[in-house]
Amino acid sequence: MGIGAGPDDWRIAMRLGMAMLLALGIFALDVLSPLQGAVAVLYVVVILLVAREQRRSLVVFFAVLCATMAMAGYLVSHGLDAIGSPTMRLGVSLVAIAITAALSARQITAAEARHHSDERYRLIFDASGFPIWESDWSPAYKLLRAGETPTLELVQRAGSAAIIRNANQEVARLFGYADRSELVGANIIEHHTISAEAAQARIFERLLRGDVPIEEEMQFRTTSGELIDVVLRVTLPQDHNGWSRVLVTALDVTQRNRDQARLAESQAELTHMSRVTTLGQLAASIAHEVNQPLSAIITYAKSGQRWLKREAQDAPETADCLDHIVINGKRAADVIARIRDLARNGDPRREAVRMAPLIEETAELLQRDMIASGVRINVALATDMPSVLGDHVQLQQVLLNLMMNAQQAMASTPTPDRELRIDGGVRDGVLVVEVSDCGAGFGDTEPEDFFRPFFTTKRDGMGMGLSICRSIIEQHGGKLTASGNEKGGASFTFRLPITEDEGRIAA
Ligand SMILES: Nc1ncnc2c1ncn2[C@@H]1O[C@H](COP(=O)(O)OP(=O)(O)OP(=O)(O)O)[C@@H](O)[C@H]1O
Ligand SMILES: [Mg+2]
Repeated sequence: MGIGAGPDDWRIAMRLGMAMLLALGIFALDVLSPLQGAVAVLYVVVILLVAREQRRSLVVFFAVLCATMAMAGYLVSHGLDAIGSPTMRLGVSLVAIAITAALSARQITAAEARHHSDERYRLIFDASGFPIWESDWSPAYKLLRAGETPTLELVQRAGSAAIIRNANQEVARLFGYADRSELVGANIIEHHTISAEAAQARIFERLLRGDVPIEEEMQFRTTSGELIDVVLRVTLPQDHNGWSRVLVTALDVTQRNRDQARLAESQAELTHMSRVTTLGQLAASIAHEVNQPLSAIITYAKSGQRWLKREAQDAPETADCLDHIVINGKRAADVIARIRDLARNGDPRREAVRMAPLIEETAELLQRDMIASGVRINVALATDMPSVLGDHVQLQQVLLNLMMNAQQAMASTPTPDRELRIDGGVRDGVLVVEVSDCGAGFGDTEPEDFFRPFFTTKRDGMGMGLSICRSIIEQHGGKLTASGNEKGGASFTFRLPITEDEGRIAA
């Protein structure tokens, strides 16, 4: 034995020494005794002794050794020519030695396989990284087999009688123990919550039906009193022997559930926020869009009052003012209805809108204002201006907003130069309308910034005009862009698809 041989090595050496002595004893008995029996058969005892060491090589070695000794004993006792019953006995002994050696080797192989599988099981158990425990639920099995139903009361009784046979360190961590040894031999009844007991009752019910594996989500209470959400997976090994071996794995879903709850909360908040934002934008849009018709109504009403105060109270001018009040009042109501549609994302109205008359009509509407601010409107439309499919009122709002912006942008332009141009025609198969002015242009600001809601450079501006225009044009399947022009002013261009079924309608 080398230095450092352990007590096991000594024990093995002792056993092998004894086996060797036994073999020698049998040999001596075989050679020296006058007995005519098959003494060599006793060698099987030597082999069985060696087989206890669970090493195939030792079994083979001793089998060969015993067979050699049996043959040597035969030769010494009987020589080569005595063929008869002693030869038969030798044959029987050799066969017995061979069979014993083969069976022992097979048993060693089976034991090794079992050992490896146990090792693998233990490795998976310990190193899986998630909680696994093996429990004895036979008390529950007996109660249920005796005809009891899986009530909460039964769960409590069976739960306190159940025993954890083995648990990995993750289980200890899950329930808040320092070491898994604290769990082995105990049960987890004190960690149960109402939800855990109800789930456990369902597990019993399904186990009885043989409905494995079973997954149930439940809540446990840790040693520190914290509530944890866990998905339990229960399986029965084949040799469960009346639920005395039940394998339970657990997945801690506390964090996942918390995240989900938080997500649901923030989604609800977001929905609320977007509703508030939509309402805010709706209010802002209405305020913006009814401003123009309302001022027109007031202007016409004042003019009407002035006419009425004069001598000729039934002058046609009064009637004209009232007509304008009616038209503008109706326009304000239409605008509100369309903005509501826009905000509701309801189906937009789609009719063939003849663009040339619409542009003329809009220019006409603003004519009075424009003259007052010294702006000349110059409309230059192609002769074959097409129709577009859309909403007359909404498209008029776009033109109105762009024209009013142009008018306001030219406030500091010398009066003779204040020209507002509207060009219209077809380019690349789409309708193109451009509203240009000779105002201050965009300066250093990116034109795209002007389209942001509530962006304004005006003291009394809301910053809603352009964003309303863009959403209307986009709802009509078109595009609205801005650029500087050669006169130093700004040009706003919208492109809209042309209606196919209406064909081209001359302006
Ligand atoms: N024709 C233009 N020339 C130069 N700048 C313009 C022109 N049109 C718009 N802008 C700039 O874009 C900004 C946003 O225009 P928008 O119509 O959205 O709002 P607003 O005119 O300021 O206010 P309101 O909501 O009352 O229309 C304006 O404040 C202005 O700075
Ligand atoms: Mg504006």
